Amino acid sequence: MTCFMKPHHEDITQEMWQKIDAVIETNKNTPGAVITALRECQEIVKYLPVELIDYIADGMNLPGSEVFGVASFYSLFSLKPKGRHTIKVCTGTACYVKGIREVINRIGNEYHLKEGGTTIDRRFSLECVRCLGACGLAPVMVVGEDTHGEIAAENVIKSLENYK
Ligand code: FES
Repeated sequence: MTCFMKPHHEDITQEMWQKIDAVIETNKNTPGAVITALRECQEIVKYLPVELIDYIADGMNLPGSEVFGVASFYSLFSLKPKGRHTIKVCTGTACYVKGIREVINRIGNEYHLKEGGTTIDRRFSLECVRCLGACGLAPVMVVGEDTHGEIAAENVIKSLENYK
């Protein structure tokens, strides 16, 4: 069983460490399993703090730089904490023309949130994405699994207040 010294990290509980050890144990002797291990550990912690990446590297007997390289290469992995709700705003042409920029500004001002950032209370993360394929509903915002079409800067905050 993997039992390296656990680094202290405020976002990783004892229970999470146990699950992380189990993931490492399952994957450590499988060539190319580092992506699986990172993905499963991210599911446990919700992101990949650098201390966790080092721990996974030690457990899997791989150089830290290699594991860090994989984690930072794939967009599937997040090295920073995410909010409970991810707001994706479409910056494709149709949405842009219909005023998504004002929507983004309104969200940014209300929650002190930048593109690619997360609020301090980890309620929201904000991502700007390319065309979501719903141009007929422009401008479009997706929160978690919910698509909000024809969203206007005046009422975007009211919609977001439903997500606690
Ligand atoms: S441009 Fe926004 S959904 Fe297509």
